[in-house]
Order: sequence, then structure tokens, then C-alpha cells
Amino acid sequence: VGADILRGGGNAIDAAVATGFALAVTHPSAGNLAGGGFMVIRLADGAVITNDHRERAPITATRDMYLDQAGNVIPGLSTYSHLAVGVPGTVDGLLSVLDKYGTMSRDAVLRPAIRMAQKGFVIDRDMARDLEAQLPGMQKYPASMQVFSNQGKPWQPGDVLVQKDLARTLDLIRKRGRAGFYAGRTADLLVAEMQRGGGLISHADLSEYQSVWRTPVIGQYRGHQIVSMPPPSSGGALLVQMLNMLEPFDLKKMGYGSADAVHLMVEAERRAYADRAEHLGDPDYIKVPVERLADKLYAKRRFADFNPARASRSTDIGAGSWPAESPDTTHASFIDKEGNAVAYTTTLNLSYGSKIVAAGTGMLLNNEMDDFSAKPDTPNAFGLLGREANAIAPRKRMLSSMTPTIVVKDGKTLLITGSPGGSTIITTTLQLIVNVIDHGMDLSDAVSSPRVHHQWQPDVILYEKQGLSPDTLQKLTERGHQGLTPWPYPRGIGDANSVMRVDGGFAGMADPRNPGGAAGPTR
Ligand code: GLY
Repeated sequence: VGADILRGGGNAIDAAVATGFALAVTHPSAGNLAGGGFMVIRLADGAVITNDHRERAPITATRDMYLDQAGNVIPGLSTYSHLAVGVPGTVDGLLSVLDKYGTMSRDAVLRPAIRMAQKGFVIDRDMARDLEAQLPGMQKYPASMQVFSNQGKPWQPGDVLVQKDLARTLDLIRKRGRAGFYAGRTADLLVAEMQRGGGLISHADLSEYQSVWRTPVIGQYRGHQIVSMPPPSSGGALLVQMLNMLEPFDLKKMGYGSADAVHLMVEAERRAYADRAEHLGDPDYIKVPVERLADKLYAKRRFADFNPARASRSTDIGAGSWPAESPDTTHASFIDKEGNAVAYTTTLNLSYGSKIVAAGTGMLLNNEMDDFSAKPDTPNAFGLLGREANAIAPRKRMLSSMTPTIVVKDGKTLLITGSPGGSTIITTTLQLIVNVIDHGMDLSDAVSSPRVHHQWQPDVILYEKQGLSPDTLQKLTERGHQGLTPWPYPRGIGDANSVMRVDGGFAGMADPRNPGGAAGPTR
């Protein structure tokens, strides 16, 4: 859809918006209308901006809403229940972006999605397997079963998935814009679904919701400019912080996948994710020290205890701190032929979100509330810890790891990247950048090479099975790294669909870890 829009004369923003709506139809595990996302845009004239359409907590959400009377987290409530659903942001975000920077009509960018929902698309083998695995979780929601099963039986490869309710919801957005989603029929059905299932989202939540234009986090890495997502994503701030910690070291000489390189990166990741738990949250609610976290001097101090010969213990690594500042003095993958670039990441949170289709709308509801810290230092679904900064409050946005990023070299867009993968998003994006800048890989290698991940707690190194050779594993163990764990899931870490400038044009690369992906033509 994105490539068609570009061929039809649309710009990168039109292509991103049309693709966003199309993904709600063809990639229901994460594409969405009732979820949220972040978009990083770099216009052909070099101007950079981000759109935050992250979900937020309903007005009646409370700090301890997932705790029982003894103060313990009730398993499943923040992930698979109507209470798991945050107020959706995607539709307002995509329409705002189109309105401000697009060139095409709402009608033109929504038509392909409506057509695919209306007429259906062929389910491939991977999607059939994926949907079959979802059925037990969807059993108790008749509206979900109606769409994602064939009358209670799994869809088979080659079947055609028609989504009439979703087509109608998309068509209302086409005709009425924002009001086609946040008011009228769609809003009534969504609120009715909440009332039926004990959820909190009300008409006031929907009508109040607005996406926000935010200034990107900008860093410098070996002569490249890094443009990424600010809070409520933790991605951009952590990415720049980790790159700052790596910059004094000769990663190129160490070599991709060497024990030295993995050790260095893991130690940077350990410190950055410890800061995430303490300092990151919704900037509309807490003061997030982005400038501090992204500062090169801070990285130098934070990494001063790095020992090239020895792994540190996560239990010995606290969050970074600094003297209080006075409040009045403070210092903060699409491309078109014109050079407009967009990095866009969107989500329902876990695969297929809450698994709840709001009856009559055809759309899956997110379970983004799990990205809040339900209780201090208690892991969420990604094992991430959080504290006060990311506690639940009415209308607050939950902290994210989504890291849509644009890398600029000599004033020109070099790389557009980002990834799904919860807590692994930030380290996947980091590895893409290091693979290109330090290891000199072409895009295909940078995207497909095996990945390694560490997130401070739990104190384990996760690695894709072919990612670390036996002698590298041995050397890391000797240096004191514990919990070296092969990535346990059939699909690899992340899905970093990226675009990179190459001689004479751009290369697009769909991450081979997700067989359903595709990239537009290189020119
Ligand atoms: N829901 C995953 C994230 O935003 O980090």
C-alpha cells in the first residue's frame, strides 16, 4: 500500500498514514485503530518533528487498579481484561499527521484499507498459525471469534479474511474523520463493549483524546545525527544514552559479535535500562530529565565504572542521579523522492492486544495499560521494572519503548529504522545503528544479523541462537556474565524493517524474522 501511494504521487507521510490504516486490516497482531503509536518525521528541508499518539489511562483509572487487597498484582488484569485497554490514539495521530504534512485526501489514504477489509485478503501460512494460537485467548469474546476464527475453527492458509465491521469503522473515519472514531457509532460501540466487560473507557475519554506534537530527542554519534522519539517513549533517550556510552570505544576494531563488543554493549544497556525504571514516564506528568540522559558528559560519568574485563551485577547498578537543578534554569521507514522521511512505530502492546474485539467495530482493543508500573519494582509483561515516574494516573500516558529513529549524515537521511519487540525494541534499534555505523554492514546484513539483548533486570543476556559463537559465550562467562540465555521464541528478536540510502537511491529491507513483511522497490 505504501509503495502504491508513493507511485501514485503521494509523499512519505501519505504512504505512512495509508500503511498505518492498512496494517489495521492485514496485520491484526499489532496494526490497529484502537491502539497507539509514535511517528518520527524528517521533512525534505531537514525539519524534524514527532507525533505521539500513545494511548493514555482512562479518566477513572487509579494507581492501584491492578492490585488486590493485600497489595499484590492480580495476574492478567493489566494484560487480558477490559481494564487493560488504554484510550486509543492511532486514529487521531494518523489523521493529524495527514492533515499537517500529507498531500493526499483522507479518502485516498483510507481506500486501500477499506478495500482489503471489505473484499478480504488471503491468509498465508504464518498468519493462519498465528491466529490459531490466539483462539484459546479469544474464546470468551464472541466478537473476536467471529472475525479471527472460521465459525469457531481455525482459519486455514489460503482462506480469505473478510472484515465487514472493520470496513464500516474505517469507512466512518473516511467520511467523518476524527468524529468517525471518537464520536458517533464507533465510540458508542466501544463504550458499550467497555460497559459489558467492566472496562473504564467513557465517551469523555474518547472525545478528550488528542495526539501531541513533540520535539524529537536528538543525539550525535560518530558524525551522525540521531533523531528519535522523546517521552512518553523511553526509546530515544535510552538509545542516545547508550550510543554516548559506546562512542569512546572502538567497536569496529572489536568486531561484530565478539565477546568485547557484546560485553561493552550489555554493560551500556544494563545502565540505561536501570535509568529507565527510575526516571522515565509521561512528560505531561513528571519532569523527565531527557537532556541529562542524552548528555555526553552524563554518559561518561555513568559509564566510568565500566570494567572491560568483568561483568557488573545488575543488583549493584542503581539508577543514575545528579544534583537537583533550580527550576528556572534548565538545559532537552518511509522516504519519498523529495527526501521526506518517516519512521513510524505503532502497537496494541502484546500480540493482538487484549484479544478483545469491540463488538460491531471489527477492531481489536489494545492492552497498553500493562506498560504502566502496576506496583513499584514489579515486572510487567516484558519483565520491565518501573517506579513512581510510570505509576498509573488518570489521563497519563504509559511509558513506551517504541523507538522510531532517523539517522542523518551530512544533512541527508541515511537510515530510517525502529522495531517492535517490547523491551527489546531499544536494543534492536541500537544494534541496527551500530551495525551500519561501526561495523560497516549493508542494510541487508544490518537487519538480518543475529541480535543480543540485556535490560538490566532480569540480569540475563538473551541472544539469538546463532548470534554468539561457543568461544564468545565462553569468554563472556569468564568475564562474569551470568544467565546467557538463547532467545526462547520461534521468531527472532525484533522486526526492524528499515530503509537506507545507498549509491544511487535507497534500499528497503523487510526483516526476515517476520515472513509476512515486504519492502518497496529499490531505485
Ligand atoms: N507496548 C510496547 C511499548 O510501547 O513499549
